[in-house]
Amino acid sequence: MIVLRNVSKVYDFSVTALDDVTLSVPKGDFVFLVGHNGAGKTTLLSLLVRADQASSGVVLVGGQDLAMLRESDIPLLRRRFGIVFQDLKLFPGKTVAENVALALQIQGHTGRRAYQSAAEALELVGLQHKSSSLPGQISGGEQRKVAIARAIVHRPEIFIADEPTASLPPDTAWEITTLLMQINRLGITTLVATHDRDVVDGFSRRVVALDNGRIVRDVQIGKFQEN
Ligand SMILES: Nc1ncnc2c1ncn2[C@@H]1O[C@H](COP(=O)(O)OP(=O)(O)OP(=O)(O)O)[C@@H](O)[C@H]1O
Ligand SMILES: [Mg+2]
Repeated sequence: MIVLRNVSKVYDFSVTALDDVTLSVPKGDFVFLVGHNGAGKTTLLSLLVRADQASSGVVLVGGQDLAMLRESDIPLLRRRFGIVFQDLKLFPGKTVAENVALALQIQGHTGRRAYQSAAEALELVGLQHKSSSLPGQISGGEQRKVAIARAIVHRPEIFIADEPTASLPPDTAWEITTLLMQINRLGITTLVATHDRDVVDGFSRRVVALDNGRIVRDVQIGKFQEN
């Protein structure tokens, strides 16, 4: 589903954010992307959605070479993704349900259908009872869940999250990660950039470690297999 072949990304002719990265993520896989601050995690995710372009190497999403993509095709590429950024970008003046439904309405779905899908997505993340609340009226963990619901409401092929458990208490971080596993079980290829060692150690999944823009580890940790 995702292939990076000898991908490098150099910012401002001097900062090497990714250095000859080769990585393959099959359809349906779950990957934790780990590494210190500045290791290149966010850069890697941003190349996948063409928020940025590789300086060299090949990036393929579903067989499509992103270097060949026209600007006008970028929205279509992004629709294949569900994306949760660190900054959640929820609209403060819109309710939880409106925030989730809006993601579909922007893509041209009618209000009724959008709200029905939003209700299903909110049910999946366990927040249907907060549909009428404003983002400011719910907790940080719940806001994260709304962002996740919004990211999956259009049933993407690939889900990417950048630090989805940052600054959350351990039990909430665990809950959110369980949710990501659930999303993955729907068949959605999932990549999660995280610093959260407890989360990575607790769930036996593939871990790709970046250090200074290079992949230094790519292992399937098999402590226990949860089904
Ligand atoms: N737009 C940019 N312009 C210039 N340098 C950048 C840009 N984005 C990232 N960098 C640099 O590229 C390197 C990789 O950054 P990146 O944000 O990918 O790391 P990260 O692994 O996500 O770090 P963190 O854990 O802090 O989020 C860093 O040295 C960073 O300063
Ligand atoms: Mg980052």
